[in-house]
Amino acid sequence: MKITKALFQCSSERLSQVPKDPLPDIAFIGRSNVGKSSLINLLTGRGGLAKVSATPGKTRLINHFRINDAWYLVDLPGYGYARTSKQQRGAFSKLILDYVLRCERMHYLFVLLDIRLEPQRIDLEFIELLGTHGVPFGIVFTKADKLSAAQRERSLARYRRTLEEQWEELPPLFVSSSAEGTGRDEILDFIEKSLRPAEH
Ligand code: GTP
Ligand code: MG
Repeated sequence: MKITKALFQCSSERLSQVPKDPLPDIAFIGRSNVGKSSLINLLTGRGGLAKVSATPGKTRLINHFRINDAWYLVDLPGYGYARTSKQQRGAFSKLILDYVLRCERMHYLFVLLDIRLEPQRIDLEFIELLGTHGVPFGIVFTKADKLSAAQRERSLARYRRTLEEQWEELPPLFVSSSAEGTGRDEILDFIEKSLRPAEH
């Protein structure tokens, strides 16, 4: 898929504020600092579209970016970041749960995981929640440039083994590096295919 147009549409602090048009949402989520905003900028080819920050917890709203006037790319708040206000202290905020489990706009969700880390309980809990509710999702491993090819393979194998304990069939897995541009084409092609039936 070629992205010819990418525009910031709106930030929502409640589900009632998300766009009302019929375009589908493709959303991105993960722990704070995993590289969501960087991946969004890589995919859209617009360096400054989503704000990248070295300080975790930067994205606290649901941000909609309108792509090719055909779908929305959605930057969700990071989960599992405790040092915010009281209401947001739960592992998964109400905003995240409302959107992920109840928003009918959401067509597909990418869960981002740092490829350097061993499987984290909070991510596994979130993935389990998605499975229980039948939410369609794939996994994107981020920051692949920080590991050697052999280390990447080891890390992926470790994650596959963990997921296989929980799932009969693994979700689609992607490896990305926003620093090196890895994974961009695969993810965009996947999105294009996933949107196709909805277009007709
Ligand atoms: P929050 O919005 O705060 O939850 O973070 P986020 O998930 O949007 O992460 P963001 O894209 O802001 O990136 C966090 C930090 O990781 C920044 O310092 C980025 O430059 C760095 N980073 C993100 N992706 C990559 C990557 O693929 N490779 C490397 N080396 N660094 C990355
Ligand atoms: Mg962000």
